Amino acid sequence: MSEHFSGGDLKTAAKLVIFEEYLDVYTTILDSNWEWGDLWYVDTHAGTGKTHIDGQGIDIDGSAIRAIDQYEDFFDRFYLYELDEDHFHTLHQTLADRFGLKFDVSEANVTGEDFLVARSDDPYIRIMQMDSNEGVSFLANNAGTNAHWMTFIDPKGLTAKRSTLDTLLDRGNVDIILNYQTTGVMRSAAADHAHEAVRRTMGDDDWPEAGTNDEFVELYKKKLEENSDIRPVLTKSLVSPHDKRCRFDLIFACRNDGARSAMEDIMNQDSLWDKAQDEMGQSGLGDFL
Ligand SMILES: C[S@@+](CC[C@H](N)C(=O)[O-])C[C@H]1O[C@@H](n2cnc3c(N)ncnc32)[C@H](O)[C@@H]1O
Repeated sequence: MSEHFSGGDLKTAAKLVIFEEYLDVYTTILDSNWEWGDLWYVDTHAGTGKTHIDGQGIDIDGSAIRAIDQYEDFFDRFYLYELDEDHFHTLHQTLADRFGLKFDVSEANVTGEDFLVARSDDPYIRIMQMDSNEGVSFLANNAGTNAHWMTFIDPKGLTAKRSTLDTLLDRGNVDIILNYQTTGVMRSAAADHAHEAVRRTMGDDDWPEAGTNDEFVELYKKKLEENSDIRPVLTKSLVSPHDKRCRFDLIFACRNDGARSAMEDIMNQDSLWDKAQDEMGQSGLGDFL
């Protein structure tokens, strides 16, 4: 059994294809145009480094590995958050093995706080074992606004709070790719006991208990677009061909028209699912053709 985060399937690979292709656009645009400060990569749900693809016996590289592998020279800092302690340790060990790094792992030296940090200084990586809603809000409120952030918000379940999104958008100088848990939100809205999770995700009580997937995505997009600088917010529905019961949507927010247009092309390319299958290797093909 893999030690890595499990539950991946073809749409996980499609998500990572879009994520990595957008990193290329982001670093190309920002590297030559961002003259006010650093570029930071912020990953709020960093996982274990890889995702285990159920039923295929393979682990595919996750967001943090892809960002560091291809774009180490572009980002001045990498901030990775992972709440689960086992995942946190797997993550720093996986990155250490993959990139030949040595992490210094210790308790954070912050009064009143109790969490682990794994530190590497070259490249500058900080992995924090904590709830990223708190961690990223703290970073946004205390680290100044000169650095431009590429932020990936990739929860499984309803753990990314709308208030965290608002904090990031209020800070500005940020591009955001968020994995919106469409089916999870829709099902939770239909179950009384799960309404608090929907409220956290949507940011208020203004949503239907019996909405469709499309309605929930549209509503979320509209709520984010209340921040006028980032209109239009882009969305891309991802559903695996072999399991249509579970859908998530990638949500993309940024202020740059050129970047938005490039992301639109990436999200809507004809070859997305072929590329996702390539990510899974030959073993993935038989199940999906
Ligand atoms: C879908 S996985 C992330 C996959 C990763 N982005 C990748 O591509 O490899 C979600 C991870 O978020 C972690 N997590 C859940 N809630 C969290 C929170 N509030 N703050 C930080 N991490 C959290 C889980 O433990 C899990 O490892």
